[in-house]
Amino acid sequence: MPNIIKAQNEEQFNDIGAGIIASLLQSNPKALLGLATGSSPVGVYGRLVELYKEGSVSFAEAQSYNLDEYVGLPADHPESYRRFMDEKLFNLVDINPENTHVPMGSSPDPEQAAAEYTQLLQQAGRLDLQILGVGLNGHIGFNEPGDELHGFTHVVTLDESTRQANARFFSSIDEVPTQAITMGIASILHAKQILLLVRGAEKAEVIARALKGPVTTHCPASLLQTHPNVIVLVDQEAGRLL
Ligand code: F6R
Repeated sequence: MPNIIKAQNEEQFNDIGAGIIASLLQSNPKALLGLATGSSPVGVYGRLVELYKEGSVSFAEAQSYNLDEYVGLPADHPESYRRFMDEKLFNLVDINPENTHVPMGSSPDPEQAAAEYTQLLQQAGRLDLQILGVGLNGHIGFNEPGDELHGFTHVVTLDESTRQANARFFSSIDEVPTQAITMGIASILHAKQILLLVRGAEKAEVIARALKGPVTTHCPASLLQTHPNVIVLVDQEAGRLL
């Protein structure tokens, strides 16, 4: 069973999440980090930036690999995941930009970009820590629910529900890309440790289903039940049914 930690409030959520990442970097400065974007990790990244400014943590020798990126958005688009990472973390700490990796969603050949990302991950070796959020439909990365899941990095057509959930960041739903490049389930589960961050009442049902329901491709987050070292950090609202 995953180790479930319930934070009392947002500050504690961010402290605990950032503390887990900072401890890893303190014991292993060359750690390979798998990173996620979105509202779940944003406060944790903010706290990590504070810890860096206080001199408690350094990313100088770390490497990062992001889970996913929209297809068709240039890297400098305000809603690209590359831009999110640059603005929320990479530009604010001492990580070497060359050691930060995000799938190349703007590539003219996304399939090729996905294959290259798989190779990159294979060359890197096992990630020490993979940060995840969960979608309302149970996706991790952009591995959407369905009859089958993919092991390695691939191009995916986003569920309508995912596009709607993410439309809040765009001026209209029509602007939300229809496809993404995402790390696959095998790559995610290959990480030595996984930290799943879940916030808000709207996630209570899906996280309960993922952790207590059957392991099924129809709820990709349920596959985390098969991993031996998962920490699930929830706030009071998201943890209501756990
Ligand atoms: C983001 C990602 C997604 C999000 C999920 C939850 O890189 O891979 O799986 O983690 O959609 O998003 P938020 O945190 O915005 O609710």
